[in-house]
Parts: sequence; structure tokens; C-alpha cells
Amino acid sequence: MDRLHLSSTFLSLFFLSLFSEVNPASFKIVNKCRHTIWPGFLSGANTAQLNTTGFVLKPGNSRTVTIPRSWSGRLWGRTLCGLDSSGKFFCLSGDCGSGQIECSGSGAKPPATLAEFTLNGAGGLDFYDVSLVDGYNLPMLVVAKGGKGGNCSATGCLLDLNGACPTELRVARQDGGGVGCRSACEAFGDPQYCCSGAYGTPDACRPSAYSLFFKHACPRAYSYAYDDGTSTYTCAGADYAIIFCPPPYTSQKVLGARKDGALLPLVNKSMIYLSSLHANGASLSGVLQVQFIARAASSAMALFLFWQLILPL
Ligand SMILES: *[C@@H]1O[C@H](CO)[C@@H](O)[C@H](O)[C@H]1NC(C)=O
Ligand SMILES: *[C@@H]1O[C@H](CO)[C@@H](O)[C@H](O)[C@H]1NC(C)=O
Ligand SMILES: *[C@@H]1O[C@H](CO)[C@@H](O)[C@H](O)[C@H]1NC(C)=O
Repeated sequence: MDRLHLSSTFLSLFFLSLFSEVNPASFKIVNKCRHTIWPGFLSGANTAQLNTTGFVLKPGNSRTVTIPRSWSGRLWGRTLCGLDSSGKFFCLSGDCGSGQIECSGSGAKPPATLAEFTLNGAGGLDFYDVSLVDGYNLPMLVVAKGGKGGNCSATGCLLDLNGACPTELRVARQDGGGVGCRSACEAFGDPQYCCSGAYGTPDACRPSAYSLFFKHACPRAYSYAYDDGTSTYTCAGADYAIIFCPPPYTSQKVLGARKDGALLPLVNKSMIYLSSLHANGASLSGVLQVQFIARAASSAMALFLFWQLILPL
């Protein structure tokens, strides 16, 4: 890089950071699931709680939340919520234990798919990821809009893994329906899976058959603690859409058309049938036919792929 280029880069970074301090970010939370979800928010240490830490979102609805540029924290979706016998609010997945719709400083009980953000971090960049390190409960997509700098790639886990979850990780409700898929760390507490103790370094903690189950299905999501290289994304001054149960086919098509420079695809095409097994994503008009074909193909492939997924574990 020549000097002129460098200084203009610095100048634009400088203006970007000026700009990003005055304008809050907006997070548009979208529910494309066929069922109601209850998003929850938890601010990181040293970050004030947001005005809302939890609310209800009916299928097809969205809500935009204003987020200070200095915010870091996580958000997730809770499912199958209601009042327990003592009148406390409770969810079968992602519950934050507050007894109310607002999480008020409590985090998600694993397993839960998490979207993690550090806004305006090092170099004025937002750092964001979708993490399955605490397990999985819902498909989720994070799309950066209007940002500059960084890779600004879409990330997430587009597939519904509750049905395909390995038996020993599976969380189901009484009628047998899957509501979550635990991480191996959570399920077995083994330092090897948790990257703790003797396994507390990136060199010592390697992907396991379990973490690879998640990574193969959702290549851009964090599958274990040291999965940073392919799972952390950056953007500056962006707004974000966080979409629950995005339709995998359309999302892949729309976002795959952008040259976003990410190393890995958003969806592993050889596993896209997984979601249609437990159709959760809403369909957009115009792709019905594609989905219909996918679904027809999926029934033939389902059994085969089920075994392919389960046997190596
Ligand atoms: C939070 O709410 C308070 C009062 O209702 C308001 O003054 C403040 O601007 C809000 N903050 C954000 C980030 O929306
Ligand atoms: C897609 O899934 C297959 C089958 O599990 C796996 O072998 C392959 O590595 C995956 N691709 C990516 C990009 O993760
Ligand atoms: C995105 O950009 C950041 C630096 O800005 C880099 O550390 C990270 O590895 C990139 N992510 C991917 C998946 O390429």
C-alpha cells in the first residue's frame, strides 16, 4: 500500500469511528419461524442492559431495537414459553430463569443458538458471530447492512438441527419433539470438548466429531471454543438484521450471490435437506416450487443422511 492510500484509509477509519459513536446501531429482529419466539438479550460485563431484555415475537413479525454503539452482548430466541404452575414465565428452550418475559440480566440456559456482538471494538470494527458453543435451539441468520470495512459477511446457522441432533446431545420435550441440541461440552463436561484444563489452548483443543456435526451443517457458526478463524466476522458502522428460522434455500441464494469474501459457505448444500425434514423456515413467494422439489428429494435422502450423520459419532 502506498502512503496516500494508507492515509486515506486512516482518514476514512477516523470518520467512520466519529460517525459510529454518534449514531446508534439498529438491530431488526425478525421471526420467520412458524411459531412464536421470545428473543432475549444479555449485555456483556461493563455494558449497560438494553431498554428491553426480552419480548414476544409472533410468526412473521419483526421488531427493531436501538443499540448503543458501545454495546457488547448476546441475543437468542426462546421457544415454547408459557406460565408454569406458580405463574412464572418459563421456556422449554433458551429460558433465562427470570420468571418474566424480560431477562433482566440473566442469560440463556443452554442449549441455545447465540448471536454475539461487540460493537465498535478494536479498530472501530463491530465483531459478530453466531455461536453453537452453548448448543443449538433455533436457526438464526445475522446480516450486516450498510457497513463499511471488515468482511461484513452474513453468518448464522440456517438449518434446523433439532431433528438431526445426535441422540446423546438431543433435548426433547415429552412428546419426543426435539427442542435443542446440546454441545458436547455441555452434555459430557469433558475438558477435551470444553477446551478447558490441559485443553485450554487452540493447539490442544481440536474439533471433535460432535463439533464437526455442527460445523458441517453450519460452516460459518462457532462449533467449539477456538473456532474463531472461520466464525468471527467484522463490519464497521453497520445495522444488523437478526432473522430466526430464515429459509435456507433463499438465504443461501440471495446472500451467496454477494461476494462477501468469507472462506466458507453460509449453508452446506449437501445438508440443506435437514431443515426441510423439520420444516421450520417460512417460505417466500416465488420459491415455493424450489422448496417443494427440495422436500420431495429430502424424503428420499433423509434416511440415508440420517445414518451418515449419526454413525460416525
Ligand atoms: C431507553 O429508554 C429511555 C427512557 O425510556 C430513553 O431515554 C433512552 O434513550 C432509551 N435508550 C435507548 C438506547 O433506546
Ligand atoms: C458438508 O457436509 C459434508 C458431509 O457431512 C462434509 O463432509 C463437508 O465437509 C461439509 N462441507 C463444509 C463446507 O462444511
Ligand atoms: C473477518 O475480518 C476479521 C478482521 O477484520 C478477521 O479477523 C476474520 O478472520 C474475518 N473472518 C473471516 C471468516 O474471514
